[in-house]
Amino acid sequence: MKPITQDTLIAALKTVIDPIAKEDLITSGKVRFFEILDRTLNLEIEVLSPALHVKKKVENAVRAALAEAFGDDFTLNLTLTVNVTTRRSGQQDILPGVKNIIAVASGKGGVGKSTVAANLAVALAQTGAKVGLVDADIYGPSVPLMFDVENRRPDVRKIDDKNLIIPVENYGVKMLSIGFFADVAQAVVWRGPMASKALKQMFIDAYWGELDYMLIDLPPGTGDIHLTLVQSVPVTGAVIVSTPQKVALADVQKGVSMFRLPAVNVPVLGVVENMAYFTPAELPENKYYIFGKDGVKNMADSLEIPLLGEIPLVQSIREGGDTGKPVVLDEANPASAAFKELAEQVILRVNERNLEQQPTKVSEVTRF
Ligand SMILES: Nc1ncnc2c1ncn2[C@@H]1O[C@H](COP(=O)(O)OP(=O)(O)O)[C@@H](O)[C@H]1O
Ligand SMILES: [Mg+2]
Repeated sequence: MKPITQDTLIAALKTVIDPIAKEDLITSGKVRFFEILDRTLNLEIEVLSPALHVKKKVENAVRAALAEAFGDDFTLNLTLTVNVTTRRSGQQDILPGVKNIIAVASGKGGVGKSTVAANLAVALAQTGAKVGLVDADIYGPSVPLMFDVENRRPDVRKIDDKNLIIPVENYGVKMLSIGFFADVAQAVVWRGPMASKALKQMFIDAYWGELDYMLIDLPPGTGDIHLTLVQSVPVTGAVIVSTPQKVALADVQKGVSMFRLPAVNVPVLGVVENMAYFTPAELPENKYYIFGKDGVKNMADSLEIPLLGEIPLVQSIREGGDTGKPVVLDEANPASAAFKELAEQVILRVNERNLEQQPTKVSEVTRF
C-alpha cells in the first residue's frame, strides 16, 4: 500500500498539467482544498473553464495521477470549482462583477444573430456559467420574444442609494432589452443619441451582479450602437454571425474590419456559420448545402479568424425563436448539439484571448 501523505499528494498533483493555464496544478495554485483522512482523499481543484471537455480532462488527469501514485485502494472525493478567466484593466467601476463581455455582431440583418445570441447564452448557462444577455438592437429588439418574457417588466430596486433596474431572468440567463419598456419601445423613431443613451442605461443603471459571460446582441451592420458599446464597456471579443451567401460574406469583412480598427481594437473571437446547411427533421443525416458549401470557412480562413461553429437551417430553430423556447433547451434536437459545441468553442477562444492578448479596455475612439 502506497502511503498518502501531504508530500506524496503534492508530488502526484505536480504531474497534472492544467489544460488552460498550461502549468501543473500545484505551481498554478489550482488546489483550493485537500484533506487526507486515512485512505480517503477530499480534494477541491479550480478549473478555469466551464466547458465540459475541459472539466472531464482535468478530472481524468487527476484520477490517473492519483491512481499511479496510490494504487486503487483509496477513495477520492473530487470537487471541481469553475473560476472563469477574465482579463480586464482599468475602468473597474464599469460592470465590476462581469468577467467577459462578448459582442454578437453581423454585417447583415436577418442572418440569425439574435437566434445565435439567445441559444449561445442558454448553452453557456447550461455549463453552469453565470450568463447575461443585453439586447442592443434598440430598433428591433427580439430578446423578450425569444425568451418568452415579453410581458415581464424589470423591477427597480434601490441598491447603494441608487435606483437600479433588475434584469429579467429565464432559462438561467439574465437579460435586458428595450422591448421590456413598452412605452419607450413604441416610440419607433429613435434618434441616434437617444438609442445610445438607452443602451448605456442598460449597463450603468442596471444591477447585473456577477457574470462570467455577458453577451451583447448588436443591431446589424456597423453603426452608432457599435461605437457606443465599445466606448461604454470593455468588450472582451466579438463573435460574427454570417450565412453562406455571397451577399452576407461581403459584409462579414466590413464587420471584422470595424472591430480591427486600431481605435476600436476588439479581438474577433471567430465567425459562426448560420443556416450552413438544411436538414429535414425526418432525415437528420442528410445535409443540403443550399447556400453553397464552405463559404464562411473560406472567408474565415482568409481573414485569419476561426470558424466557431456551423448551425443548420432547421424549422425547429425558427419555431424555438417564435415560441420563446431556444432550441438548445431540447436535448433531443440535433440543432441543440450544434449550439452546445458553439458554446464550447466560444469558451475556449475567450480563454485563449484572456491568456494571450492585451487586457480589455474601453475604447477611446471618438469618431470614425
Ligand atoms: N438556423 C436557423 N434555422 C432556421 N431558422 C432560423 C435560423 N437562424 C435564424 N432563423 C430564423 O430567421 C429569422 C431571423 O433570425 P434572427 O435571429 O432574428 O436574425 P437577426 O438577429 O440577424 O436579424 C428568425 O425568424 C429566426 O427564427
Ligand atoms: Mg436580431
